[in-house]
Parts: sequence; C-alpha cells; structure tokens
Amino acid sequence: MGPALRQQRGFSPDDVSHGGPLTAVIMCRHIHIIFAQMQGPQMILTHATLATMDGPLIRDGAVVLDGDRIAWAGPMADLPHRGEALDLQGRLVTPGLIDCHTHLVHGGTRAAEFEARLNGASYEEIARAGGGIASTVAATRAASEAELLRSAQMRLDQMRREGVTTVEVKSGYGLDIETELRLLRVARRLQGADVVTSFLGAHAIPPEYKGHADAYLDEQALPALRAAHAAGLADAVDGFCEGIAFSPAQIERVFLESQRLGLPVKLHAEQLSNLHGAALAARFGALSADHLEYLDEDGARAMAAAGTVAVILPGAFYTLRETQLPPIDLLRRHGVRMAVATDYNPGTAPMTSLTLAMNMACTLFRMTVSEVLQGVTIHAAAALGLTDRGRIAPGLRADLAIWEAADPAELGWRIGATPLHARIYGGRLDA
Ligand code: NIG
Ligand code: FE
Repeated sequence: MGPALRQQRGFSPDDVSHGGPLTAVIMCRHIHIIFAQMQGPQMILTHATLATMDGPLIRDGAVVLDGDRIAWAGPMADLPHRGEALDLQGRLVTPGLIDCHTHLVHGGTRAAEFEARLNGASYEEIARAGGGIASTVAATRAASEAELLRSAQMRLDQMRREGVTTVEVKSGYGLDIETELRLLRVARRLQGADVVTSFLGAHAIPPEYKGHADAYLDEQALPALRAAHAAGLADAVDGFCEGIAFSPAQIERVFLESQRLGLPVKLHAEQLSNLHGAALAARFGALSADHLEYLDEDGARAMAAAGTVAVILPGAFYTLRETQLPPIDLLRRHGVRMAVATDYNPGTAPMTSLTLAMNMACTLFRMTVSEVLQGVTIHAAAALGLTDRGRIAPGLRADLAIWEAADPAELGWRIGATPLHARIYGGRLDA
C-alpha cells in the first residue's frame, strides 16, 4: 500500500453541524437511500479520478463503500457522507478488473513448444502431431489437485496484483470425467478473487479418442458436463469450434445439453478459420464468442442480435504471430460489445497480465483506450452474465482498482509494469 493510502481522519460525524444521518435524510433524497442501505463498516475514498463506466471521468470524485457494496459515487462536491476517508490525491479509480477468459488451471509448461515454433513449426502442426493442448492434458492428468491449486493460485495472485477482482476459469485440460471435475474443483478453491467457472470439455479430442470426437463427447465430455452441473461446479459451458477441435455439429450437441441443464454457453470461435461458430453460439444466446479473427459480417450481425459479447484475445494473436486481424470495425458497426481478456493458457497466451492485453488490443488491433477499459470492466462483466460489477455505482460489489495514474490511457500505455496502487476486493483494501 502506498503512503497516501494510510487511513486519514477525514470528515467526522461530529463535524456535521446539523446532527447525524437522520438530519441528512431530511436534507437530501440521495442520502436517504444511502443510509437506508447502510449496514456494514464504511470506507470513503476521496479526491479520486473516477472511471465509473457510467459516464465521463469524474475528476475530483468520491466513492463510499458500505461493507462489500458500493453505496455512493460522484463528485466530491456532492459527497453526502461523513466518516473515515482515504485521500487518493487524484489517483484513478476503476472498477476491479475482470478477466473474462482464462485457462488458469493446468499442469506442466509449454516451453518446448515455444522453441519448436521458433524453429518454424506452426500451432496447428504441433497440435496435429499430438503436442499442443494434448501435451498439457498429459501433464494435467498427472498432477495432483494440490499441485494444480498451487500453480493456479500463483497465476491468480499475479492477476490480483494487476487489479483483477473477478476471473473466469475454464476446465479443458483434463478431457476425461475425473480430471475435468478436478480442474473445476481447483477453480472453486482459488482465493482472493471471484471465480466464475466454464466447463470446457469440448476443448480438444484427447489422444485416446483420436478420430472419434463424437464418442469422446458421448463417453467423457457430456457425462462430465452433467456431473459438473450436478456438483455445482460449472457456471457456464464453453467449446472450441475449429478444424483441429470440434465441428459446429459437435459443438451444437454440447450446447443442446447445456441448454437442457439451464447453463449459459460461450464459444472459442473463428480463431484459425471461419466455421461460423459465432453465429451458432448466437443462436444459443451465447454470453460471448471469443477470438473471432475470422468472423464475417453475418456472424457479427448474429452476435449483435443475440447480445453476444465479442471477447478479443490479443495474447493468442501475438503468440501465434497471427496476421488475420479480428474485425474490430465490423464489430463496432454492428454495435457488438467488446471485452478484452488475457486468454491465459500455457500454449497460445502464457500471459497473466490483463493490462498487457489492453496494450496489445490498442497497439495490434487499434482499439481505443475507452474500448479496452470497457473491455476489462463493464463488457467483461456482460461476457460473464454478471450485472453486479464492472461499474462503479450504488448497490454493486465493492471491487475497485486504485491506480498510480491519473488517466485511463496510462493502464494500457505501459509495457511490462502495471501501475496498480491498491486493490479493493469485497470492500477490503489490499495492495
Ligand atoms: O484459447 N483456442 C483454444 N484454446 C486455447 C489454447 C489452448 C492451448 O494451446 O493450450 C486458446 O487459445
Ligand atoms: Fe481460450
């Protein structure tokens, strides 16, 4: 925690010349609402630059937290509260960042594949030769639950140090019933950020089912999905629709089962080719379609109509030295909301830095500062189907990031260092 965050005595209830909160109720309608909701301990952040995601930056702003909820946010001049205050001296405050697409839990590394690619092998060649995802599957199956938890927690801690307060975590490196469930159990045990899980049994065809994708779905992925749902381990269902993974017809089978179970869906779509996966996902009301380098106009139109969020993943684009840019202008034209995520995974995006993903989305894809900030807050929340976070507004979760910065452009501007000053998660301050 920086020195400026030492708790300072700000306003005191005793200073209120007209009396306590009850008097305030009579004075101002907003105060009535706030005090009616006040239950937990309060924290007041003062003299902040607020990116509420609900309007323009508020230059001299304040936020009032009540336990694990935001009670009030607005200009200092309108601050209705008296209490302990943290003077932020102009620092930027954003919602806690949301990384809405990660493969955080796995065993092993993929450093050898990194070297193979440096020597000219392509991602698809490596996958077809039994490397790639399959090598991580072998390492993951061999890892104990404790080992998986330790390494995933370490990666999550790196994310937390960049202001992340909510993270989506997929399974997909087990590819058998038992290991898929183990990955989701590990995800549920992660500490220090809110975890949203996605079941990704349809990530790759494991070696023992090579050439028998439908049998794999029947015997492993779909039973694992049902078991994960029954155990409350899956918040959503994902798939990888690609030549080296599952066909649209196979993904549709997974989505039909998800629909039957009442689970929302999302899809890795149009990453390496255009199989019209985004339109398929939209037909199932998907929360998001992710990657999208090869998305066409029909796909964008379908996503817009369904309210499906486009999750932009520049880390994988960068690692694979992809040249096909995701159609950002097309998404803008059709009004598709865009999120930005790390896609942390050991193969195509061994990157835990969400601010680096913001930088890459700006530099490689020409997304604007405002778009990438929305992409890791309000639109990332939408990609997870969450309405209780991603903005700074009364009633929402008290998850905030305080930055050693005065302007949102500074978050994506720096490379290799993140200017986080402190993080507030569930109303608690950590640094
Ligand atoms: O999101 N596209 C498929 N899945 C991952 C890559 C997984 C891997 O290579 O291990 C992704 O890029
Ligand atoms: Fe992914």
